[in-house]
Amino acid sequence: MASSSPFFLSFSLLLSLPLLFLLAPRLLSPKTLPGIPMATELEDLALFRRATLSSSNISLPSSGHPPKIAFLFLTNSDLSFSPLWERFFSGHASLLNVYVHADPSAKLRLPQTASFRRRFITAKPTSRSSPTLISAARRLLAASLLDDPLNSFFALLSQHCVPLHPFPSLYSALLSNRPLKSFIEIIADEPGLHARYVARGDLAMLPEVPFPHFRVGSQFFVLTRRHALLVVRDRRLWRKFRMPCLKSREDSCYPEEHYFPTLLSMRDPAGCTGYTLTRVNWTGSFDGHPHLYGPGEISADLIRTLRKSNSSYEYMFARKFSPACLAPLMELADTVILKD
Ligand SMILES: *[C@@H]1O[C@H](CO)[C@@H](O)[C@H](O)[C@H]1NC(C)=O
Ligand SMILES: *[C@@H]1O[C@H](CO)[C@@H](O)[C@H](O)[C@H]1NC(C)=O
Ligand SMILES: *[C@@H]1O[C@H](CO)[C@@H](O)[C@H](O)[C@H]1NC(C)=O
Repeated sequence: MASSSPFFLSFSLLLSLPLLFLLAPRLLSPKTLPGIPMATELEDLALFRRATLSSSNISLPSSGHPPKIAFLFLTNSDLSFSPLWERFFSGHASLLNVYVHADPSAKLRLPQTASFRRRFITAKPTSRSSPTLISAARRLLAASLLDDPLNSFFALLSQHCVPLHPFPSLYSALLSNRPLKSFIEIIADEPGLHARYVARGDLAMLPEVPFPHFRVGSQFFVLTRRHALLVVRDRRLWRKFRMPCLKSREDSCYPEEHYFPTLLSMRDPAGCTGYTLTRVNWTGSFDGHPHLYGPGEISADLIRTLRKSNSSYEYMFARKFSPACLAPLMELADTVILKD
């Protein structure tokens, strides 16, 4: 995010663009610092500038190399399920990349397994009821767009997400639409939508986002490369959604559930399926948190139930699972989760 401080503005003006580009490649590469790398304003600026100017590579790569899926993990605690994800990735390394945005202010252990090691991008602290979760997702999209031109789908996940199907099922589900589509939930008629629309002030979203265009949907999406680029290039809506909510309206402040569905439904509704591939259980939720599955609830039946939707598609991922679910999930990995 660009700072509005006069010092920063004049400082960044002093820096010529060529210098930014010289700096950028080194700053962008995933790092192996003992802690989590912290993004500076300058790095963020360079990252988005480069991603914005980068590739007209918006369709499937034509180079003969198969397209890849970028798995974008957004976390503020340990990636407890990395062993399960490793099992899921196993044998498919050439078809995927992992990127992690870990809150640098959180104390977490860096996973040392092959797919996650050295995959941490420069990050900034994240918190609920603020646009920081949007920034983090945009940072992940920009870094992964730049990192590998073969990245063709961008799946946003959290540390509480688990896979429900084997990798090849996900891969063919994503690539089955022609033209390719993003899997993002887009809902227009949710109770409470208007309260969320005015969370920054009654007229704050105008004129860019009239209320009839305001949408809600799960934060967890899978975007095509075309849409990932559309997001990192967007400034018009981001200028609105990055504004803080009014203190008195923080109960209605969930920017990350609105920015992406609103932007994509305004710009390319036909390019979106309108649903998320990540199942969540809102039964008995409180304080905006969905049901957190514990180890005692894990069973083959649960996995099969979570896969089913009311529609013609199956869910590919589910959340939220507590870290203690790792052992029972690993026991089901080969016989249920990674078997179709
Ligand atoms: C598009 O991707 C190819 C590799 O697939 C790369 O060589 C080329 O430089 C990219 N083009 C642009 C404009 O980034
Ligand atoms: C959803 O969560 C509730 C508890 O809040 C639980 O009773 C129910 O079994 C869960 N549903 C599924 C499909 O897991
Ligand atoms: C399916 O629809 C029923 C009834 O509308 C609803 O209660 C349930 O939560 C839906 N399940 C899923 C997975 O969307």
